[in-house]
Amino acid sequence: PAANRRSTKTLKCNPSICKEKEKVVDFVEIEEICKKVSYCRCWRSKKFPLCDGSHNAHNKETGDNVGPLVLKVAE
Ligand code: FES
Repeated sequence: PAANRRSTKTLKCNPSICKEKEKVVDFVEIEEICKKVSYCRCWRSKKFPLCDGSHNAHNKETGDNVGPLVLKVAE
Protein backbone atom coordinates (compact mmCIF):
# COMPACT_ATOMS: atom_id res chain seq x y z
CA PRO A 1 0.00 0.00 0.00
CA ALA A 2 1.12 3.53 -0.76
CA ALA A 3 0.93 4.52 2.90
CA ASN A 4 3.68 2.04 3.77
CA ARG A 5 6.09 3.22 1.06
CA ARG A 6 8.92 5.50 2.05
CA SER A 7 9.62 8.36 -0.33
CA THR A 8 12.77 8.25 -2.43
CA LYS A 9 14.04 11.25 -0.47
CA THR A 10 14.08 9.34 2.81
CA LEU A 11 16.08 6.52 1.21
CA LYS A 12 18.98 8.79 0.27
CA CYS A 13 21.85 8.76 2.73
CA ASN A 14 23.40 11.94 1.29
CA PRO A 15 21.12 14.90 2.06
CA SER A 16 23.27 17.74 0.69
CA ILE A 17 26.89 17.01 -0.24
CA CYS A 18 27.97 17.66 -3.86
CA LYS A 19 24.47 16.93 -5.18
CA GLU A 20 25.49 18.31 -8.59
CA LYS A 21 27.77 15.27 -9.07
CA GLU A 22 26.55 11.90 -10.31
CA LYS A 23 28.70 10.20 -7.65
CA VAL A 24 30.73 11.58 -4.75
CA VAL A 25 34.21 10.08 -4.70
CA ASP A 26 37.09 11.44 -2.65
CA PHE A 27 40.74 10.59 -3.16
CA VAL A 28 43.30 10.97 -0.39
CA GLU A 29 46.98 10.40 -0.95
CA ILE A 30 48.51 8.45 1.91
CA GLU A 31 51.18 11.11 2.46
CA GLU A 32 48.40 13.58 3.40
CA ILE A 33 47.44 11.55 6.43
CA CYS A 34 49.33 12.55 9.56
CA LYS A 35 49.00 10.47 12.70
CA LYS A 36 45.21 10.29 12.80
CA VAL A 37 42.31 11.49 10.64
CA SER A 38 38.55 10.87 10.81
CA TYR A 39 36.40 10.57 7.69
CA CYS A 40 32.66 11.18 7.72
CA ARG A 41 30.30 8.29 7.09
CA CYS A 42 27.06 10.06 8.01
CA TRP A 43 27.09 12.48 5.05
CA ARG A 44 26.25 15.44 7.28
CA SER A 45 29.68 16.94 7.96
CA LYS A 46 30.27 20.57 6.97
CA LYS A 47 33.90 19.54 6.35
CA PHE A 48 33.09 16.46 4.23
CA PRO A 49 34.87 14.14 3.59
CA LEU A 50 36.29 14.83 7.05
CA CYS A 51 34.20 14.26 10.18
CA ASP A 52 33.21 17.42 12.09
CA GLY A 53 31.14 15.70 14.80
CA SER A 54 27.80 16.25 13.03
CA HIS A 55 27.06 12.53 13.43
CA ASN A 56 26.34 13.18 17.12
CA ALA A 57 23.36 15.45 16.35
CA HIS A 58 22.17 13.07 13.62
CA ASN A 59 22.31 10.08 15.97
CA LYS A 60 20.51 11.98 18.72
CA GLU A 61 17.79 13.17 16.33
CA THR A 62 17.21 9.87 14.54
CA GLY A 63 18.30 7.15 16.96
CA ASP A 64 20.93 6.10 14.42
CA ASN A 65 24.42 4.96 15.47
CA VAL A 66 26.75 6.14 12.71
CA GLY A 67 30.28 7.35 13.32
CA PRO A 68 33.45 8.19 11.39
CA LEU A 69 36.07 6.01 9.78
CA VAL A 70 39.21 6.75 11.79
CA LEU A 71 42.57 6.15 10.14
CA LYS A 72 45.67 6.28 12.28
CA VAL A 73 49.27 5.36 11.95
CA ALA A 74 50.06 2.07 13.69
CA GLU A 75 52.26 2.47 16.72
FE1 FES B 1 29.77 12.36 9.70
FE2 FES B 1 31.19 12.41 11.92
S1 FES B 1 30.31 14.07 10.89
S2 FES B 1 30.68 10.72 10.76
